[in-house]
Amino acid sequence: SMREYVDQLMRKMTLHEKIGQLNLMVAGDITTGGVMDTRVGGDIAAGNIGGVFNIKGIDKIRAIQDIAVKKSRLGIPLIVGMDVIHGYETIFPIPLAMSCSWDMEAIERSAMIAAKECSADGINWTFSPMTDIALDARWGRISEGGGEDPFLGSRIAEAMVRGYQGDYSKPYNIMACLKHFALYGAVEAGRDYNTVDMSRIRMYNRYFPPYKAAVDAGVGSVMSSFNIVDGEHATANRWLLTDLLRDQWNFDGFVVTDYESIGEMTKHGFAPLAESSVMALRAGTDMDMCSRGFVGTLEKSLKEGLVTIEEIDLACRRVLEAKYKLGLFADPYKYLDKKRAKKDIFTAENRKAARDIAAETFVLLKNEGNLLPLKKQGKIALIGPLANTRSNITGTWCVAQTPERYSTLKDGMERAVGDKAVVLYAQGCNISRDEAFQRDSEFGRTIERGDEKQLKAEAVQVAGMADVIVCAMGECSEMSGESSSRANLDLPDVQMELLKELVALGKPVVLLNFSGRPTVMKWEDDNVQAILNVWFGGSEAADAIADVVFGDKVPCGRLTATMPQAVGQLPLYYNHLNTGRPVPEGANKYYKYRSNYLDMRNDPLYPFGYGLSYTTFSYSDLQLSSNTMAADGDVKVSVMVTNTGGRDAAEVVQLYIRDVFASIARPVKELKGFERIELKAGESRRVEFTVTPDLLKFYNRNLDFVLEPGDFEIMVGPNSRDLKKLKLTVK
Ligand code: IFM
Repeated sequence: SMREYVDQLMRKMTLHEKIGQLNLMVAGDITTGGVMDTRVGGDIAAGNIGGVFNIKGIDKIRAIQDIAVKKSRLGIPLIVGMDVIHGYETIFPIPLAMSCSWDMEAIERSAMIAAKECSADGINWTFSPMTDIALDARWGRISEGGGEDPFLGSRIAEAMVRGYQGDYSKPYNIMACLKHFALYGAVEAGRDYNTVDMSRIRMYNRYFPPYKAAVDAGVGSVMSSFNIVDGEHATANRWLLTDLLRDQWNFDGFVVTDYESIGEMTKHGFAPLAESSVMALRAGTDMDMCSRGFVGTLEKSLKEGLVTIEEIDLACRRVLEAKYKLGLFADPYKYLDKKRAKKDIFTAENRKAARDIAAETFVLLKNEGNLLPLKKQGKIALIGPLANTRSNITGTWCVAQTPERYSTLKDGMERAVGDKAVVLYAQGCNISRDEAFQRDSEFGRTIERGDEKQLKAEAVQVAGMADVIVCAMGECSEMSGESSSRANLDLPDVQMELLKELVALGKPVVLLNFSGRPTVMKWEDDNVQAILNVWFGGSEAADAIADVVFGDKVPCGRLTATMPQAVGQLPLYYNHLNTGRPVPEGANKYYKYRSNYLDMRNDPLYPFGYGLSYTTFSYSDLQLSSNTMAADGDVKVSVMVTNTGGRDAAEVVQLYIRDVFASIARPVKELKGFERIELKAGESRRVEFTVTPDLLKFYNRNLDFVLEPGDFEIMVGPNSRDLKKLKLTVK
């Protein structure tokens, strides 16, 4: 058994070797450069390293595994990690976009394909899923999660863990890593790495569910976060990493820190490295990512009596068990099958899946006069700094990407129209006036900044010749993700100015908004005829966008993060608590002594759950199987959904509840169910949900998960705003 195997191995290990297993290091350059930096090679042979990450290529990984297996004393194989966040070489849309598909089967499949590809290339551990709830779009890492809702986030977390890990029995099952534990998405003011401070009630009810769902789904590892939780560093917070994660949630995998977290504890003002390492280990951290705190100081701390051998043994055991689960002891070369590397990566089948899924993630925000889909005819002007670029539209964390194999949107649109229409292209402007975002790092070259006036003149001229203008604008990949917080969320000035000029031409304009977060598009909503949010769609983005723009596919994405009217509204989320002074419903002016702004309504520009289609849906006849429910019973709620338009399409039917009176303040509504259905034009279907006691429960002031009898509102509809409602009384 695993236990016996690890026991036996640990009996042979020296203290030094045990601590070595707790050390995770970067193994050299990701795509270029040599096999590894020589220090890492030497350290592996000396038994100082338990795992490596950021190394790409089966030959390089084999070489490094060889050192562990053949040159280290006990031949313990390395665990080999990578940030495979939304695909490997076949890249799926960024996670925020994926969540907008509300398609759990597709999300699971994307994780499985990512695992299939990276495992064919030597990777057996991914730093995904990120299940941090994020309510503030200024935070660049909102792009890496599933949006603002804990219920939806939980379903996504489970799907991803299943997709990556399976049951570890297949050669392509890898270990997932839930991150960032905990609360990383709640950094103040949306500034990355900033302070987090919140009540336990909020943690349990709003932020913890997706983490817990991943643990319940059997995630093999957890990464602690950079932020403080209850005043302590997450990495050294025993309540978080042991009492909650292990004792309450029964997590039985290993905990790794984030990059240099233990070292950063010094800057946070906790302690120098040795003491921080003691605090982290004793709290429940098992593996130290890149701080060299464990490997450099624990031996001495043990001698000084600051940690015990039992604490070191426990961490070591957990790391070894992970390797055992992955089958690395049975075959250290399990993930190093050259044949698979040749045939399983970037396959036509995987790319087709990515293209289909990408099309499901785009959210149609506005479509006046049914401008979209465009006909494949006439002259189409394609304008904007995101139209003719590859790595700028794949999104953040495409560590393994090979952009030279991907298409630009221009390629995709030209392919789609063939000889039926002409695509006229002009770049129009640089991505931003900010020098930092002028780079297009694809193929390692830097794209020259164009002359602003000249680019604009060309674009206006090209637009003047066209029947319709398609603008490819927004953020580039690097403008969201880690360390990419923004204080302004509208289009960069230079793009906005160009857009205004193009709109002024009076021709129909479609805006394709590339973004890694909810952006502010108030002016666009008022002035541009059609807006399709395309996020960052991965390696197949170009064809997927063309599929939707020209109507070969019908857009069906629904927002999972509220789109604000202005940055000043943030954090803005649909499932907020009520105030004692809410603004009257439908209010369109300022009310004195109400919870509102002098200069703007509270409403978002586009609410959570929202998204248009090329068809229309109607909801009717909301029914409850009973108006009362026993506290241990359940009721069915159902609604008739009809496709009232002319296209077969998918719709996401959403169930929300509100607990009318409760012992703690409860949200005005909370998502508690959803079903993605496909309806033919004209087809009707009754969609049914079961309301169970668990869906009505919450964590009370003692942090007990309880159902308080009383009245609930049960709401169903196409988004969080346009809902039909009935009353349910729980006795
Ligand atoms: O996995 C990431 C994490 O999300 C942010 N810091 C670096 C880690 C490893 O690359």
